[in-house]
Amino acid sequence: MSNYHIKHLEEYYQVYRKSIREPENFWEEVAEEHFMWRKKWDNVLSWDFNKPEVKWFEGAKLNITENCIDRHLSTRGDKTAILFEPNDSSEPAEHITYKQLHKRVNKFANVLKDKGIQKGDRVCIYLPMIPELAISVLACARIGAIHSVVFAGFSSTALATRINDSDCKMVIASDGSFRGSKTIDLKGIVDDALEDCPGVNSVLVAKRIHSDIPMKEGRDLWLQPLLDAASDDCKAEIMDAEDPLFILYTSGSTGKPKGMVHTTGGYMVYTAYTFKNVFQYTENDVYWCTADIGWITGHSYIVYGPLANGATSVMFEGVPSYPDFGRFWEIVEKHKVTQFYTAPTAIRALAKEGVGHLEKYDLSSLKVLGTVGEPINEEAWHWYDDNVGKKKAPIVDTWWQTETGGIMITPIPFVTPTKPTYATLPFIGIQPALMDENGKEIKGNQVDGRLCIKFPWPSMARTIWGNHQRYKETYFSAFKDKYFTGDGALRDEVGYYRITGRVDDVIIVSGHNLGTAPIEDAINEHPAVAESAIVGFPHDIKGNALYGYVILKDVGETRDHNNLRKEINQLITEQIGPIAKLDKIQFTSGLPKTRSGKIMRRILRKIACKETSNLGDTSTLLNPEVVQDIMDNAL
Ligand code: WTA
Repeated sequence: MSNYHIKHLEEYYQVYRKSIREPENFWEEVAEEHFMWRKKWDNVLSWDFNKPEVKWFEGAKLNITENCIDRHLSTRGDKTAILFEPNDSSEPAEHITYKQLHKRVNKFANVLKDKGIQKGDRVCIYLPMIPELAISVLACARIGAIHSVVFAGFSSTALATRINDSDCKMVIASDGSFRGSKTIDLKGIVDDALEDCPGVNSVLVAKRIHSDIPMKEGRDLWLQPLLDAASDDCKAEIMDAEDPLFILYTSGSTGKPKGMVHTTGGYMVYTAYTFKNVFQYTENDVYWCTADIGWITGHSYIVYGPLANGATSVMFEGVPSYPDFGRFWEIVEKHKVTQFYTAPTAIRALAKEGVGHLEKYDLSSLKVLGTVGEPINEEAWHWYDDNVGKKKAPIVDTWWQTETGGIMITPIPFVTPTKPTYATLPFIGIQPALMDENGKEIKGNQVDGRLCIKFPWPSMARTIWGNHQRYKETYFSAFKDKYFTGDGALRDEVGYYRITGRVDDVIIVSGHNLGTAPIEDAINEHPAVAESAIVGFPHDIKGNALYGYVILKDVGETRDHNNLRKEINQLITEQIGPIAKLDKIQFTSGLPKTRSGKIMRRILRKIACKETSNLGDTSTLLNPEVVQDIMDNAL
């Protein structure tokens, strides 16, 4: 018998040990007992981190939507699968049952087929948090098309880059979106993007804001009439366990975004198993993850993980501040939410508004609170614990990544004693290692180092779309035979992990990963700019904010610096999106560089963080004199 649902600490240790000693037997039992396969695997696991190549459940056949929908129909057909809560609190919520979801996914799948989408084709989904987003994801999976969801806050340039990188044939979009008090012209962004995307031949448009938008003849089609006309019966395409399920882009420290490729069987097993345990989901619970499906958290823990367990998953279109800062709590009370999963940046923003908004609502339904996306600071942790969970709902601080597909280090609520700011223990099957700078593993407790994972887990990304070499270099080259996460961590005296943050040039702003290179590229497009460098500095709500050092081409540039700052941020908004805007821009005559011409970001980071008492070794700099100048003019 597999241990699908862990309920005690001893059980955790026992199952953990088994999952490490006999990983293949362990995962085989979980897979066999809790999922629906059209054919069993020939081999549970083959792997080589040198190549790198990882295969789970090779030879098995399945369709993930049969696991997420069809198999629940006889037992939970009338249970709400997706509970849609609109942006506007006066608009009624929509309860989509498993039976209704089945019909809607099948109809959508038939529309995709009818428009020429076949197994293996890439479909870009650029939608707000409306039911069509979850449904289109599942419709792609139904027919074996590879979905590539792009967060609908990205600009047209960023969207075009992602569409072209994976050669998407189709885009699924909406006429617009509601976000708090704003409406956003999403279709206009798509139109701009598609000027540079020759491979896209159709755009399906969902109606959300009912605005009168231009539709391009022969390319754009309103979705609803197609759905109305489609059959609600679509046979699931039978996929190999290792067939790609989706591509999801994440920022790297250099170069263009990385299209992480996730495959079907292992991803399903791991996201479902983690969901069950990390949220201790039981049958009548109402689970709510506030993430956007445009990010991995939404893929794994709004759509696939919850639905694979037959759960009710809340999908919220709006923002925490609209119509006021009580909105989250209003929703918790209204739907009697039992598990609530959000990001530290949201917690900090809510905490800043005080407890007045919380006190108006009954939060007694809450059993488990989750956090993800960046390290949670002690103050935010306690605020969450005291005021939201009333010290009765354990906080699961879940560490994981787009690349890992599922939660990797986390407490199990009611099982693992929590400790503020600690993600605590590795989840079942996960073997973390802390490495020193010389590539040696640091054993023992009360140590810190670079966080790696030593052994494959079922939901790890298998490659970067179109660039396996980059996958190897980014994740498997820094430390031999290990997956390198890019994060630093410490391990305390009892073996609990605390994630300390990125050790590369990725900066997490409001929980969004931003690579420095694409932002610098955007700034450098400004005609007055010669060169730039971006670093992060601490911010009360966003966790980190961005600080840009900019060298102008003409030292005698007389234009107003504030106007230049606005123009630079405008360029960033156009190229990437508003999430990447800089909080501070310092104009400078030079940037500290090593003799090989590399910008020494360490120094710039210290200046931005106002930690200038010890700048470290500057003797290797080509131009040490600029450092003083930058310090004197720091913002
Ligand atoms: C950071 C989000 C500390 C980390 C699921 C990681 C965290 C990056 C935590 C991945 C946490 C995520 N504590 N840091 N609980 N969760 N991170 O790809 O730096 O958007 O590498 O995936 O977020 O972000 P991504």
